[in-house]
Amino acid sequence: MIQVKSAREIETMKKASSIAAESLIVAGNAIKPGMSTWELDKIIHDFIVSKGAIPSSLGYCGFTGSACISVNSELIHGIPSKKKIIKDGDIVSVDVTVECDGYNGDNAYTFMVGEVPERAKKLLQVTEEALYEGIKMAVAGNRIGDISNAVQTYCESRGYYVVERFIGHGIGKDMHEAPDVPNVGKPGRGVRLVPGMTICIEPMINETTAEVIILPDKWTVVEANHNYSAHFEHTIAITNGEPLILTMSEMHHPK
Ligand code: MF3
Ligand code: CO
Ligand code: CO
Repeated sequence: MIQVKSAREIETMKKASSIAAESLIVAGNAIKPGMSTWELDKIIHDFIVSKGAIPSSLGYCGFTGSACISVNSELIHGIPSKKKIIKDGDIVSVDVTVECDGYNGDNAYTFMVGEVPERAKKLLQVTEEALYEGIKMAVAGNRIGDISNAVQTYCESRGYYVVERFIGHGIGKDMHEAPDVPNVGKPGRGVRLVPGMTICIEPMINETTAEVIILPDKWTVVEANHNYSAHFEHTIAITNGEPLILTMSEMHHPK
């Protein structure tokens, strides 16, 4: 069942979402070559807790981090580890979900560490732009398929591969609620959007194949050819007008 939120609930979600957004700013400022993904996770964890909020990912289905931190060919669900050292030239996806006053906000950003190869930069730019193309379609009266198709066509027309196996989702009291928000789909299909729906749009885009493999740690999802992958995510609310990006912050530069 889709939980349509009241104006008051959306205000509460804005609080959780803004802490989630700020935690990405904290992560972006902290991220340095030589640092382990465990250290980065600890900084994010301590920030969330200092705001009186809860890192929703910690303990979720046994996940041991407060953030998912995924490097280079790792697409999503990277487990923070003392053994995983961030290097100059890496791309690092940080995905943070925060619970505050009973509601969740979820967002992700793929950071560049130092000078990264041009082909990685291009993938990041297209994936981030695809997120905003999807968000543009998140208006009342449209359908989920309009969002999915916008993300898909934007990326595929630029030569990239959309991962279908993982998808965006509704969000609220639970981190994952109905409806599913795929990154592949047909215009005019799927659930109709109504004001008060809150969803996460999260393009997961690969450089050379739509296939992914899961590492033996049972979490980390990797581009099957071990080339680059990228992930950007916002929590948004459907309104009577423009989509409301609950996880927006000064770090983002939407086109
Ligand atoms: N934040 C992820 C999402 O976008 C979910 C992470 S769950 C975890 O849906 F357990 F992997 F952390
Ligand atoms: Co997320
Ligand atoms: Co999500």
